[in-house]
Amino acid sequence: MKAEILPTHTPALFASAVTRAAELVSRGEIAALPTETVYGLAANALDPAAVEKIYAAKGRPASNPVIVHVGSLDLAIRCAGRWPELASRLAAEFWPGPLTLVVPRGPGIPDVVTAGGSTVGLRWPSHPFIPAVVRACGLPLAAPSANLSNRLSPTSADHVYRQLGDRIPLIVDGGDCNVGIESTVVDVSGDEPVILRPGMIHADAIRAVAAGCVATASNSKFNPNSNSNSGAGPLRSPGMLPLHYAPRARLRCLAWKSEEDLAQQAAAMSVNPSKTWVVAHATIPMSGRWAWVSVIPEDSEAYARGLYSELHRADEAGAEWILVEALPDTPEWAGIADRLHRASRR
Ligand code: TXA
Ligand code: MG
Repeated sequence: MKAEILPTHTPALFASAVTRAAELVSRGEIAALPTETVYGLAANALDPAAVEKIYAAKGRPASNPVIVHVGSLDLAIRCAGRWPELASRLAAEFWPGPLTLVVPRGPGIPDVVTAGGSTVGLRWPSHPFIPAVVRACGLPLAAPSANLSNRLSPTSADHVYRQLGDRIPLIVDGGDCNVGIESTVVDVSGDEPVILRPGMIHADAIRAVAAGCVATASNSKFNPNSNSNSGAGPLRSPGMLPLHYAPRARLRCLAWKSEEDLAQQAAAMSVNPSKTWVVAHATIPMSGRWAWVSVIPEDSEAYARGLYSELHRADEAGAEWILVEALPDTPEWAGIADRLHRASRR
């Protein structure tokens, strides 16, 4: 199988891609669809056999629940067993947008979506494509990121094609993702709200609506060995597993005062500069000894938008190492820092 790729850059193309995607998911097939965060691999969330196809295509462990995407508050509430007051407040502030709310699971949501757990993650994306498909087929769509398990998430149709092009029937090209890293996941199913995965809607913005919201310890400390999971059952937030979000090249975040300083640190790590992709935003290496130097603006939103595509390029170029200039330590950068720390676990 080679995936069909449908463009969406005119109203007529957009409409026919919606029709095609809705037709596929309605008959239990899967399709890679654009969102503002990363591309998702979508299936009818109410059809266990269809959701199984997502797991199979990704090679994803069944202990990892998938996010259900909706196109209205009403459908989100219908997917929930109970709709907490805090969910209403967070949805009013941030939906549609890059926020996933974990709430008690509704009776129609199958085990394969929640990995057997009692909660479901729900998101109403701001990219118009998935909401349009949901309206066309009347179904909520389960969709994890459209990458092979443990690999880097796709932020373009081309990234999806390279990882999954021979495993899925359809990729809808909605352009480059405007946010660029995965959504913030907030669990509002318990007494206290918990940020399970940081993202571009950062902790201070969440706390302005949900006072007292805490981040999971594994989150804030970037501790690969701690998962808030205790005992059996689905992982509380498998996105927190060590080898998530990783490029093939080994990645390190380093602070450097000058290019010479960077070169000395690289030499001390036995890193060969000619096989090394540097990602810089402030102190830019200029010498030409590196395989490539990517410059991403020191603006958290622009940085998030550009980061994964630089990491994909480094992998495609066969880089052995990716050295990333250390990021500012402020709330706006926390989601990006989280992904880079996870990508540097090996
Ligand atoms: O931005 C995004 O969230 C993208 C796009 C496609 O919407 N999706 C995405 O899905 O990143 P995925 O499956 O790659 O990551 C979903 C994260 C994982 O960390 C998963 O464990 C967590 O959300 N999650 C999903 N349902 C959950 C639940 N019921 N309880 C706790 N965590 C959940
Ligand atoms: Mg993922």
